[in-house]
Amino acid sequence: MRYHLATYGCQMNEYDSAMIAQMLARFGAVSVSSPENADVIIVNTCSVREKAEETAIARIFQFKPVKQANPDLKIIIVGCMAKNRGEELLKKIKFVDFIVGPDQYRKIPELLELPKRKRLAFLDFDLEENYVGESAKILTPFSTHITIQRGCNKRCSYCIVPYVRGPEKYRLSSDILREVNEAAAQGVSEIMLLGQTVNAYRDGNETFASLLNRVSEIEGIKRIRFTSPHPRHYTQELLEVLTQNPKVCHHAHIPLQSGSNAILKKMRRQHDMETYYGIIDYLRSADPLYHISTDIICGFVGESEKDFEETLEAVERVQFDTAFMFVYSPRRGTESFKETEILTEDEKKERHTRLTEIQNAITLKRNKLMLGRTETLLVERLSSRDSSEMMGKTDNFKKVIFKPEGNVKPGDYVKCKIDDIRGWTLRGTLETNE
Ligand code: SAH
Ligand code: SF4
Ligand code: F3S
Repeated sequence: MRYHLATYGCQMNEYDSAMIAQMLARFGAVSVSSPENADVIIVNTCSVREKAEETAIARIFQFKPVKQANPDLKIIIVGCMAKNRGEELLKKIKFVDFIVGPDQYRKIPELLELPKRKRLAFLDFDLEENYVGESAKILTPFSTHITIQRGCNKRCSYCIVPYVRGPEKYRLSSDILREVNEAAAQGVSEIMLLGQTVNAYRDGNETFASLLNRVSEIEGIKRIRFTSPHPRHYTQELLEVLTQNPKVCHHAHIPLQSGSNAILKKMRRQHDMETYYGIIDYLRSADPLYHISTDIICGFVGESEKDFEETLEAVERVQFDTAFMFVYSPRRGTESFKETEILTEDEKKERHTRLTEIQNAITLKRNKLMLGRTETLLVERLSSRDSSEMMGKTDNFKKVIFKPEGNVKPGDYVKCKIDDIRGWTLRGTLETNE
């Protein structure tokens, strides 16, 4: 049995795809990169914005001729769009065989044995399904992502995630630590912990802060990152671990969404700007180079010019290292979908462009602050521009290009002096292999 797996959406989908791949491997299936050679094609989809669904659907339609050429081929849609559009996908896309929501992935291997003509959807949420005992395949030999929380209990008024992923579920800390141990035993030194509100993690007395400490005690683990924390769940205990545990990287993706308290309230974000600035000031006073990135939505329903200007002010005040900026995309079923939009698509895009220009200048300024510093890099790969060079990342998540010497290879830690910047890209000179 050969399968081809295409993944869209966030890192949690990447993790799930790796987990599905492992379930299929136990079943004896092998992965193929070309869909034409596959017996089954699985598309793991995202629904967060209209565009994400359009992209997944376009990709699925590319498989139509493959199915026509090979009628025995099975096509399975999984992930958030599978849950969001459900049976409608079976009705509208006739060549698709199965639709499987995020809590039903254990069914996938069995589906491959079903007789050809059956077309089915498995969409139920399962509050008990935490994929206990499963661990995802390690994605690179030196770094891996581990989902610690599934679903989301917040109800941000624009967001579809709680509807497609279901309520919050935390994995057992024993399962997570086992997975980290397994990864470390295979040479992984960098761990990224994942969840929609990852810092709300709880398992009995285990908090997110205590989990970070426990992961840091595992031999071989040198760097710990996580995404996405929610501003509401930065406890004092967590702030202390973030600034005091040397293995927890100085890098956080803290979604802001808007700089206006009025809009944050309409978004039901459960935090205001004062809370947000409190976190940023704590982290940046411990380390002015603390990498902070964010997500911002432009043109949310009811966002006035004044609200938008408050977002621009917040962006200037925080000085984000990078920001992911999105045009508001109404999602059917969410609370804000019911509200009438006043801004046109062009007006929303215009705000997005203004924000992007400001943020680009800040990103450059933040990168320039790294000049002159000697930093430890985790070497990731050859440089995509010039294969005589390599790319590694600093603790604070900056990419640095350097010329390797000797047998420097991905997964190594090296010291580099950052001495140049071309465009946005930092360049360094190798000092020592660690
Ligand atoms: N759990 C994370 C976000 C997950 S979704 C958090 O709470 O921060 C990733 C990002 O997509 C969000 O941070 C938000 O900026 C964006 N997003 C979500 N719904 C959106 C929508 N309807 N339109 C535009 N952007 C959206
Ligand atoms: Fe969506 Fe809000 Fe949950 Fe993030 S916290 S996934 S934005 S509902
Ligand atoms: Fe998209 Fe689902 Fe992730 S909607 S952002 S793939 S949780």
